[in-house]
Amino acid sequence: MIRDERLTADELQRIDERIRDDWPTGSAVDFEEAIAYHESLPAHKQFADVLESADRPLLQPRAGVPCLDDQVSLLEHLHGEGAADLLPTTIDSYTRDNEYGKAQEGLENARESGDATLNGFPAVNHGVEGCRELVDRVDAPIEVRHGTPDARLLAAVTFAGGFQSFEGGPISYNIPYTKEGSLAQTIEHWQYVDRLAGAYTERGVTINREPFGPLTGTLVPPSIAIAIMLVEGKLAATQGVRSLTLGYGQVGNVVQDVAALRALRKLGNEYLRDEVCVTTVFHEWMGGFPPDEARANGVIGLGGTTAAIARPDKVITKSPQEFQGVPTKEANAAGLRTTRQLIDMVVEQDIVLDGVDEEQALIERETRCLMDAIEAHGDGDVAQGTIEAFESGALDVPFAPSDAAEGAVLPARDDDGRVRIFEWGELAMDDDIKEIHRARLADRAETEGRKQSFRMVADDVDAISDGKLIGRPTSDTGGGRDGGETRAD
Ligand code: 5AD
Repeated sequence: MIRDERLTADELQRIDERIRDDWPTGSAVDFEEAIAYHESLPAHKQFADVLESADRPLLQPRAGVPCLDDQVSLLEHLHGEGAADLLPTTIDSYTRDNEYGKAQEGLENARESGDATLNGFPAVNHGVEGCRELVDRVDAPIEVRHGTPDARLLAAVTFAGGFQSFEGGPISYNIPYTKEGSLAQTIEHWQYVDRLAGAYTERGVTINREPFGPLTGTLVPPSIAIAIMLVEGKLAATQGVRSLTLGYGQVGNVVQDVAALRALRKLGNEYLRDEVCVTTVFHEWMGGFPPDEARANGVIGLGGTTAAIARPDKVITKSPQEFQGVPTKEANAAGLRTTRQLIDMVVEQDIVLDGVDEEQALIERETRCLMDAIEAHGDGDVAQGTIEAFESGALDVPFAPSDAAEGAVLPARDDDGRVRIFEWGELAMDDDIKEIHRARLADRAETEGRKQSFRMVADDVDAISDGKLIGRPTSDTGGGRDGGETRAD
């Protein structure tokens, strides 16, 4: 039975030797030599130091193309033209599925044709040497960003390759990313990743770890995201991680987003042991984007404005081409510049938002309900508690493709666009909190002249891409204040 306990040196070594056989580049991984390489890097490439000592929200995009030279020019463009403070290397989908042979084929095709035949940088195939060339040639800290449930070899190669920050975690890269992988297995796999990060950290090479806060990216209630961030933070800290960046994805209601980021920071510092340095990252809207660039820039601008008020340590930016998938480098840099413009214009203003403290208190109470349930389910062990809480539905994520989550919780926006819970399933929450949500959703139903129903949920999922925050019924779809209950189920 998996428990939240630190892997021993023997266990670390045994797993390390086994996973390095998964692809030939694994054999070039040498921990001692890698420590010396990291020590040779200049201060401005030390990821955790740069992030933790910043005095304003740092900006980071997503970006990954298959070939090394192209990845270098892409990152140089984002650093130069987009003024990104921190750089990414987004990993391709084959690598995320541990299909290194297919990634190799894609890489070779890309080298021959000059086309981006993979949707990211296959870091395992580039190996330690290729990663170091990237780190050497680019003049800012770089993080590995991916979506890999079993990221053990990716971590071993990229840590040895000079990367000092690594996204993901056992829940946040399971629940939204796989259908069948068990939580017990992803927790075990990430214990290795975190223990390896811990081993580097103990030698003076801090590896920053960043659990993926947005989860399914679709109207995730803040307290659910925060509880999962705390769980992943605790699991990582047990393995020796000391630099943790907890994430949260914009929901679009400014009061709720500011409150959630404040709650995330506060509870992160409270739930994680003192020796862990907790920072926060705000993801610009992860749901469906408007199809045209002008309106997409509006969504990005609201993200920048929210960040200026809440002041997370880092912002992951979107591009105006989000709707069509992977952006051009110019559009990617434009998303960075739009965000920076908003942050720099707003950050020095003293903006007081009505209701933030109350919303923050509600989010904190909800998160504590979930954390208490996890604790109770595992008899104090957070690994076991998480597995069992997901099994019973006490912990749940809306719209999760994974069989490991019930997916019974359904969110909907209230009358001013805050994400509330419409269907609770078995989620562990005090009754008076449920009543608050129910009352807020009832207000909306009254405004719209329709019953609360799944229709509202579906309308909300499409609302931002359709140009609104709240999925109100329109005259051509029926409903409306005088439209009776034509859309009610
Ligand atoms: N380069 C840039 N952005 C990427 N995304 C995924 N892969 C890449 C890549 N190689 C972005 C998508 C979306 C988010 C989930 O990740 O465009 O914004």
